Amino acid sequence: MSITNIKGNVRAFAPATVANVGCAFDILGFALEQPRDEVVARFTTEAGLSISAVHGDNGRLPHDPQKNTASVAAQAFLTHIGERRGIALEVFKGLPLGSGLGSSAASAVAGVLAVNALFGSPLAKEDLLPFALAGEKVACGSAHADNAAPALFGGFVLIRSAQPLDLIKIAAPEELRCVVVHPHIEVKTEDARRLLQRQITLADAVKQWGNIGGLIAGLYRADYELIGRSLEDGIIEPQRKLLVPGFDAVKRAALDAGALGCSLSGSGPAIFALFAGDQQVQDAAAAMRAAFKSVAIESSSIISRIACDGGGVLA
Ligand code: HSE
Repeated sequence: MSITNIKGNVRAFAPATVANVGCAFDILGFALEQPRDEVVARFTTEAGLSISAVHGDNGRLPHDPQKNTASVAAQAFLTHIGERRGIALEVFKGLPLGSGLGSSAASAVAGVLAVNALFGSPLAKEDLLPFALAGEKVACGSAHADNAAPALFGGFVLIRSAQPLDLIKIAAPEELRCVVVHPHIEVKTEDARRLLQRQITLADAVKQWGNIGGLIAGLYRADYELIGRSLEDGIIEPQRKLLVPGFDAVKRAALDAGALGCSLSGSGPAIFALFAGDQQVQDAAAAMRAAFKSVAIESSSIISRIACDGGGVLA
């Protein structure tokens, strides 16, 4: 591949995401406006890819380029374009680790966006997802795309097929708002995936398929009532909520405060709730946090629109 328009250094970002969206395990996610991770890529004299620094992680993320999600994604891209020049990545974590907000996906997407831009964007954004998924795999043990795809493309993204990748981007209804409450405990996605039963009953599957169809139809029709009715997960949530003390109380608080629906964000422990409009979101966030507090868990909250665009390049 001939590379032109090489830049000195590049800063890219990718946002937090909510995966699964209740019923749609591994096949649907959406992007939040904040928080986000950033990755700076610059050329160095040392051959190969390295990580020069990681900020905002309290020293917890690996600096080994074969273990950090940002560098694994970047390396997959560099191998694809046949580049071996020395490049250093500096990772700025804005997302909490192990939160259910797609932290590993955000770093992976920002990493691959940064190195692609460093070489003058030889690949289109649409072609970058497989590299980000290589990063997701090293972090979570699974290359699910329901965080990385919305982190890259924004909006809601439906993963119709993971292999081969077949994605459908769905614009969010104008008034849709999201409250995410992040309890200050950690759940590793890898662990939260391992605990899931491998088999489900046909009756449960039929119910889930109905809800997934209803959710997608609700998004296309901007039918908030339908979105709310469909945000029901009878398969994954009952298993994983046991990892999040206070889950039922927090969900009850969100619904009592007017949420359309509420469930775990990704593999948790964060809990998201969707709303039609801004009116109830502040009170809902406070009520959800109070419910966590009642089981002695501190938390923080995010109130966001659905971000139309995903990650990008800052400079
Ligand atoms: N779909 C993934 C899971 C998302 O629920 O395991 C992880 O954030």
